[in-house]
Amino acid sequence: MNKITVIGAGNVGSTVANVVAQKDLAREVVLLDIKEGVAEGKALDIWQTSSILKFGTRVTGVTNDYLATKGSEIIVITSGIPRKPGMSRDDLIKTNAGIVKDVTEKAIKYSPDAIVIVVSNPLDVMTYAAYKTAKKHSNKVFGMAGILDTGRYRAFLACALDVSPKDINAILLGGHGDTMVPLPRYTTVNGIPVTEFLAEDDLNKIVERTKKGGGELVGLMGTSAWYAPGAAAAEMVESIVDNDRRVFPVCAYLDGEYGLSDIYLGVPVILGKNGIEEIIELDLNKDEMELLNASAKSVKEVISTLEKMNILD
Ligand code: NAI
Ligand code: 2OP
Repeated sequence: MNKITVIGAGNVGSTVANVVAQKDLAREVVLLDIKEGVAEGKALDIWQTSSILKFGTRVTGVTNDYLATKGSEIIVITSGIPRKPGMSRDDLIKTNAGIVKDVTEKAIKYSPDAIVIVVSNPLDVMTYAAYKTAKKHSNKVFGMAGILDTGRYRAFLACALDVSPKDINAILLGGHGDTMVPLPRYTTVNGIPVTEFLAEDDLNKIVERTKKGGGELVGLMGTSAWYAPGAAAAEMVESIVDNDRRVFPVCAYLDGEYGLSDIYLGVPVILGKNGIEEIIELDLNKDEMELLNASAKSVKEVISTLEKMNILD
């Protein structure tokens, strides 16, 4: 791949650029931020690891210069602000949707054919905002959350079972937040159902810890995570660049799948050179469907809050 742009050179954006460069996924990664000098500095720092870590991807940083992003094949959006004390959830939606709209418009102007991966929070709604702004087919606009959430789930399971995390496979549905739906029925240790290793109570505790996994890290660090989110977004980039057609939980636009429409929500997809190649519809049982519908309801509420703000018009 020739060029990948990462918008937002904060904790997550710089980690995405770093992992993408270390994996040598493109000739160039452009890191863009609104804060003068930050993207330039982080890009230079990453680039100075190239001879040590043996990669050739050139990493450059720019301040708000979208011309430098021209012709990007993938754009990863991580720009946004975290919720600050005294700020309501609606204030955060308003500010971040304004940022996502602005950066999407500018980036798409210079890279009309790019695939857009959104990371900014609240994830499902910001991905919806990018989709409405980009006016591209929904297979080219999607969000990262499920790989991160299953990454946490698989890490907790690996500790509990004392096995390699490499052998734990899992899928997860729903919005990125407390209503996410981890699916123990589809969780295996190299094909062996996880329920053969763990009692229901212990598994439920891990599911609950996963749902609050982002908050656990905010509690420890005073800000949200970046290593796992950055690696997760880079894994999506890799599957697209190499046309691996890997199966991941991705925040995708649903148009009738799972009985849901006009919403972005986490579902399993095949990710390849065209972005989302296919949405996989699982045959959910009644309980799983109820959990998914509850998650969809909460995402829809935030989407309707956003729509009432008339930011995307
Ligand atoms: P951060 O505060 O470290 O970085 C955000 C960067 O965006 C800052 O450098 C800021 O200057 C930049 N920015 C703000 N407005 C901009 C604009 N208009 N144009 C260009 N750059 C702009 O935050 P961090 O930790 O990197 O998180 C970024 C976003 O990702 C947040 O919304 C966070 O909640 C979200 N996140 C989402 C995850 C997911 O699973 N989807 C996981 C972790 C974080
Ligand atoms: C996370 O899950 C806050 O979305 C962020 O770490």
